[in-house]
Amino acid sequence: MYLILLGILIGITLYITYKRKNKLINDDSNMKYDHAIIMGGSIAGMTTAAYLSKYFKRITIVESDDVLNETLMKSTANELLDYRCNLKCSSSLGRAGVTQSYQIHVLQGEGANILFELFPNLKAKLIKEYGACLCSLRNKFRFVIGDVLLNKNLTEDLHWFCIDRFTLETILRRELCLQYNNEQIQWMSNTKVTQLIVNQSKNTVLGIKYRSKLNSDTRMQLYSDFIIDCTGRYSSSIKWLKENFDLIIPTEELHTGTGYVSFVGERFKTGNVSLDSIHVGGNAAHAPNHNKGFLTTPIRQIKSSDPKSLGLLSNFAVYCVNSEYPPNDSYENLLEWIKEYLPIDYYLILKSTKLLSPLLPYRRAFDSRKYVELLGRKWPLNYILLGDAMCVFNPKNGQGMTHACRQAKQLNEIFKQKYHLKDISFIYNRQASSISEECWLGSTTNDWAVPTLKVIKTDQYGKTTTYQRSEDSTSNYSQPKIPLFMQFLQWYTHWLIKCAAQSGELSTAFLYVVFQEKTPYSLLQPKFFLKILYSSFRNYFNLTKSLFD
Ligand SMILES: Cc1cc2nc3c(=O)[nH]c(=O)nc-3n(C[C@H](O)[C@H](O)[C@H](O)COP(=O)(O)OP(=O)(O)OC[C@H]3O[C@@H](n4cnc5c(N)ncnc54)[C@H](O)[C@@H]3O)c2cc1C
Ligand SMILES: *[C@@H]1O[C@H](CO)[C@@H](O)[C@H](O)[C@H]1NC(C)=O
Ligand SMILES: *[C@@H]1O[C@H](CO)[C@@H](O)[C@H](O)[C@H]1NC(C)=O
Ligand SMILES: *[C@@H]1O[C@H](CO)[C@@H](O)[C@H](O)[C@H]1NC(C)=O
Ligand SMILES: *[C@@H]1O[C@H](CO)[C@@H](O)[C@H](O)[C@H]1NC(C)=O
Ligand SMILES: *[C@@H]1O[C@H](CO)[C@@H](O)[C@H](O)[C@H]1NC(C)=O
Ligand SMILES: *[C@@H]1O[C@H](CO)[C@@H](O)[C@H](O)[C@H]1NC(C)=O
Ligand SMILES: *[C@@H]1O[C@H](CO)[C@@H](O)[C@H](O)[C@H]1NC(C)=O
Repeated sequence: MYLILLGILIGITLYITYKRKNKLINDDSNMKYDHAIIMGGSIAGMTTAAYLSKYFKRITIVESDDVLNETLMKSTANELLDYRCNLKCSSSLGRAGVTQSYQIHVLQGEGANILFELFPNLKAKLIKEYGACLCSLRNKFRFVIGDVLLNKNLTEDLHWFCIDRFTLETILRRELCLQYNNEQIQWMSNTKVTQLIVNQSKNTVLGIKYRSKLNSDTRMQLYSDFIIDCTGRYSSSIKWLKENFDLIIPTEELHTGTGYVSFVGERFKTGNVSLDSIHVGGNAAHAPNHNKGFLTTPIRQIKSSDPKSLGLLSNFAVYCVNSEYPPNDSYENLLEWIKEYLPIDYYLILKSTKLLSPLLPYRRAFDSRKYVELLGRKWPLNYILLGDAMCVFNPKNGQGMTHACRQAKQLNEIFKQKYHLKDISFIYNRQASSISEECWLGSTTNDWAVPTLKVIKTDQYGKTTTYQRSEDSTSNYSQPKIPLFMQFLQWYTHWLIKCAAQSGELSTAFLYVVFQEKTPYSLLQPKFFLKILYSSFRNYFNLTKSLFD
């Protein structure tokens, strides 16, 4: 007995000393570091800048696009909308760095919570001036996964904040510039980061090399205490770490043949009230049997004198996994395709929709994870990856922006606890990767079921192996083996969704996880686990019974 107590005491003491050791010795709460550099001024970069302004005297955001252009900074709400709707291709709006920007984007609850806490005026502004709206999941939402409809009797009402990604990002940038003056947060737009400046023997990143896009001859250097890579899915971090420190980040990519066609339209009454009440929702693709999906969300509430108008401008996406791409040559062909492959409801909704934009395809979606935490203390000091730069998800689950916001918030927590600056990248890597892990499971569980899945893995020695699922025996790649844990998750989600169709309580719990307000592990709690186990067994015995009948 005493021995156990003694053991616990020693444990606690060791823990406290460990914590102390990692903390700043100077506990002066007003102390600020001098300068941080953030590469990339999109969702991840701007959220991080707002959080870190508490800990750094100066922050420089280096962004390769012309984001401070007056068209983006000064246009009125209607001009922005026109601009958004009339573009010819995704790079024509001066945001070539985020080609996904014009595709449908939903902002999950936790992402909205974080942004609205950081930028107190943002929510009201978006609603009042830009026609954003809050959609009640009880009344204006219908969500089918594969062919299973989630139960509508939610035990609590959740709300979806609806606005298009282009407006959200643009207004966020204006808020950031209003909230922080040019001395606290300085923007360098039209500027591309080309390399890191490092001290190899100290295993430290010291700064960046960059090049102005307007004056391509000038190559310059900028030093700082801390550097955050928020450059998104095509981040050069893998290359930079290899070149400068000879470090290899183990990675995993899943290619699922995900393809989107997004467009904007005004919704009119269909003559069926229950269809008109679906403001947010659709049919989520669910491999291997339901590889085509539909999603809609409002982007503006408008006033219309036409009694047939629903007063909604909406974003629509018709999408697929398994390379079963929807057509993008004409609206008529797209409608025919929807009529053939999706429930008739969506055809009816779209037939009563007035198209207001071109059809924009996007076929370069994938899941891609950098296992930064596996490098442990070998990871260089004062340098981290955040948002898509660390982990990219299949967009069909709508997790990316919220994932970036959560990682930025976690970084804030770490700074708040006053760790030594030199320990922060190591601590952050572990904590941020567990956020990525949750979203990663959310996307890849079903992605592993895609019939033509391709997996590319690079291990810590830099050896890359490609696997491809196919019936073609002459294929050059071996078949991917589904990890055991994945098989369990696939089985579990299958029954979870079936049970959620019957249970408002389970549907609510599931939506909290979709919103990233609760961890996916909350769905494993005993009361749900037993229910799910029970229905799976009941089905199993029914099947065997019917075999013997
Ligand atoms: C089709 C599609 C649909 C999606 N739908 C959703 C959704 O519904 N909900 C959701 O939450 N997420 C969605 N996502 C994911 C979401 O778009 C990303 O997760 C999110 O944009 C990540 O933000 P980020 O700031 O990390 O990167 P990005 O938004 O990609 O921004 C990177 C920034 O870095 C800049 N940059 C790049 N290289 C350099 C350089 N060398 N120097 C300087 N600047 C540089 C770029 O110009 C850009 O501004 C979707 C993605 C796709 C492809
Ligand atoms: C803003 O962008 C537009 C379109 O790309 C361009 O024509 C214009 O010159 C830019 N304005 C400035 C001040 O750079
Ligand atoms: C929702 O609840 C009502 C009232 O309790 C019930 O009549 C109805 O059948 C429930 N609907 C579903 C889909 O479970
Ligand atoms: C790197 O750091 C070491 C140790 O502090 C120092 O001696 C050396 O001059 C630095 N090298 C460069 C290139 O700055
Ligand atoms: C209206 O749409 C709902 C949802 O698809 C459907 O169940 C119902 O039968 C439709 N009503 C009419 C009158 O067509
Ligand atoms: C449809 O999308 C594909 C993939 O992005 C593209 O190659 C093709 O040109 C598009 N077709 C039309 C008519 O826009
Ligand atoms: C396999 O590789 C060979 C040589 O690289 C190539 O010619 C062949 O087309 C590939 N087969 C398949 C099915 O991709
Ligand atoms: C099993 O069979 C019974 C009676 O045949 C039925 O009521 C029940 O819904 C079935 N259960 C499942 C999970 O299919």
